[in-house]
Amino acid sequence: LIWENVIVIYTLIKAYKVFGSDQHVTALKELNLNYSSPFPPIRKGEFVILRGPSGGGKTTLLNMIGTIDVPTTGTISFVFQTFNLLATMSAFENVELPMTILGKLNPKERKERVEMLLRLVGLQDRMAHLPSELSGGEQQRPSELSGGEQQRVTIARSMANDPNILLLDEPTGDLDTFNTVEIMDLLLKINLEKKTTCVMVTHNPDVECYADRILYLEDGKFVKQVYNRIQVALVFEDYNEYLKNQDLNKQNH
Ligand SMILES: Nc1ncnc2c1ncn2[C@@H]1O[C@H](COP(=O)(O)OP(=O)(O)OP(=O)(O)O)[C@@H](O)[C@H]1O
Ligand SMILES: [Mg+2]
Repeated sequence: LIWENVIVIYTLIKAYKVFGSDQHVTALKELNLNYSSPFPPIRKGEFVILRGPSGGGKTTLLNMIGTIDVPTTGTISFVFQTFNLLATMSAFENVELPMTILGKLNPKERKERVEMLLRLVGLQDRMAHLPSELSGGEQQRPSELSGGEQQRVTIARSMANDPNILLLDEPTGDLDTFNTVEIMDLLLKINLEKKTTCVMVTHNPDVECYADRILYLEDGKFVKQVYNRIQVALVFEDYNEYLKNQDLNKQNH
């Protein structure tokens, strides 16, 4: 079996200059993701979850993966923790924008693709909705999408130009249990159906079951990895029950 590797890293160092001083912070310290290290490359279609303590270098690594080089073919897409949707544009227009910028599709093709993507994320009935609150002026309007729906729009938008790699920084960080499971199910579907490589940062250990591999990053280096034999989706009802029992246990101790 031959894997196609899409992310290979050799002794990556990233130092930030501290503003207004000569000091540096080394966020990534000779980080390796290759066959000469215990941590092999990320292969095409792999779903990798990045975990580890705050300040360990996860966001820095995602940023490096996204910008370190310009791909010969293919594209890389980012999904941020805060939704970054344009408030004056509808869900439809937000998803259409990257296609318009790329300029490969004509308006009719764009419309069909936007509708397909919004169907993919289950928002076919919300196309005209404004994602976030419009404040100030006469145009004042509340957000017409919930947090989970907004995150689904960002995922639809990130898929606009059919990326080979999807980079996600805590995409469920602001969401409740129900929406967390919904978004993870959606990412799993995209990963399995479209074979999109996913690299996702999360602080939630309960969603590790969705990944092929969990990489733990600490103090600028990988310290551990765990492989899942199969990717498993959480069942919302069971997971919710489990969380409730955990809360009860905490109260009783
Ligand atoms: N622009 C910057 N300038 C200086 N130092 C920075 C900058 N960005 C990040 N750092 C430092 O680099 C280290 C790694 O930060 P990074 O944001 O990658 O961590 P993280 O693992 O994503 O943490 P979290 O889980 O809290 O999001 C931290 O010590 C941080 O303070
Ligand atoms: Mg971070």
